[in-house]
Amino acid sequence: MSASTKRPSDQPLPTYVWEPTTDFLAARYRLPRESIVRFDVNTSPLPPDLRDVLTGPFDPLLCEYPPSDYAGLVAAAAESYGVAPDEILPTAGADEALDLTARAFLREGSVAVDAVPTYAMYGIVTEQRGARFRAVSRRHADEGFGLDIPAMAEAARGADLVWLCEPNNPTGAAEPPERIGELLDLLAADAARDGRPAPAVAVDEAYSEFVGRSVLALRARYPRLVVIRTLSKAHALAGARVGFAVARPETLAPILSFRAPASVSTVSAALATAALRRPELAAANVARIAEQRARLIGELSGIGWRPYPSQASFILFRFGSAEVAAAAAEGLLRQGLVPRTFGPGHPLADCLRLTVRSAQENDRLIRAAREIPA
Ligand SMILES: Cc1ncc(COP(=O)(O)O)c(C=O)c1O
Repeated sequence: MSASTKRPSDQPLPTYVWEPTTDFLAARYRLPRESIVRFDVNTSPLPPDLRDVLTGPFDPLLCEYPPSDYAGLVAAAAESYGVAPDEILPTAGADEALDLTARAFLREGSVAVDAVPTYAMYGIVTEQRGARFRAVSRRHADEGFGLDIPAMAEAARGADLVWLCEPNNPTGAAEPPERIGELLDLLAADAARDGRPAPAVAVDEAYSEFVGRSVLALRARYPRLVVIRTLSKAHALAGARVGFAVARPETLAPILSFRAPASVSTVSAALATAALRRPELAAANVARIAEQRARLIGELSGIGWRPYPSQASFILFRFGSAEVAAAAAEGLLRQGLVPRTFGPGHPLADCLRLTVRSAQENDRLIRAAREIPA
């Protein structure tokens, strides 16, 4: 099932509302700022040990612009992802890569497709380009929120861009790579039959380190594939704002033309380069989070919360109704624990998404959850 939407061009873009700040929540719930724990934004609980990278808050690196080719960062990313340096474009987080991808491939009247529920930014950056959006429903929750491949291929006929999220946020499920390959083959075959270029396909792999695989190899088979990676999740550097668009050089070229010359700061580039050169740090973080994820699933399902399987750094829980989920969210917030909620009318309105955090922070969550009806 797919719904197609287009914002009338004479109407201003909506003002998007992001997560409330920690200061705001502390004031609203009359709690000390230090007691607030963000279970809503999928950041890492512990910092990576990169103490030796910067010499202090006024590091001399800050006086200089970054090198325009980001050669050190690009080399580290190319090695880490197993691609050539000219297939890497550093960006200010994955979100900038998503924005640049939309700028490169969408214009007024274009069509973009995604599989919902998914990360909201695909809709936002599509809408900002004045493009039309076809949202294809994922398969039922009991079937693991998998992609409806025939419906995706149908919706993508004549589209310029297809967005995919692997593993998917907010459901936590990952599609087997063969199924993504199957979709790409269908898109290529349809385009060849209709005598037009195949759509660009952007696969957002923000959480790919948690599932331990990538669709990058498929770029050999489908040249218009753009893979988007980030240092924000497994590498625990969300505040540094470093991500990448990874694609064949000819596909990367139109994306590069929209990036400001120095959108990744010198300090962030230094931290990200060091983090990529020390893969053992991210691997330890992923292992720690996987262990805590299993523990949270065990403890919370023991008290009647219903988790969906997750291959990411967060877990989606379903409640008896949207009202019960909203009451559970309020109960957590009163304790300074911030869940991700989905507004009324959203297909996941009866769910909460919770980031897996440190053992101590998860202890607080489990204690608070025991007081809350499921
Ligand atoms: C699927 C997905 N993509 C991208 C992002 C944004 O990542 P970044 O911090 O690199 O901009 C997030 C953050 O939550 C995400 O969940």
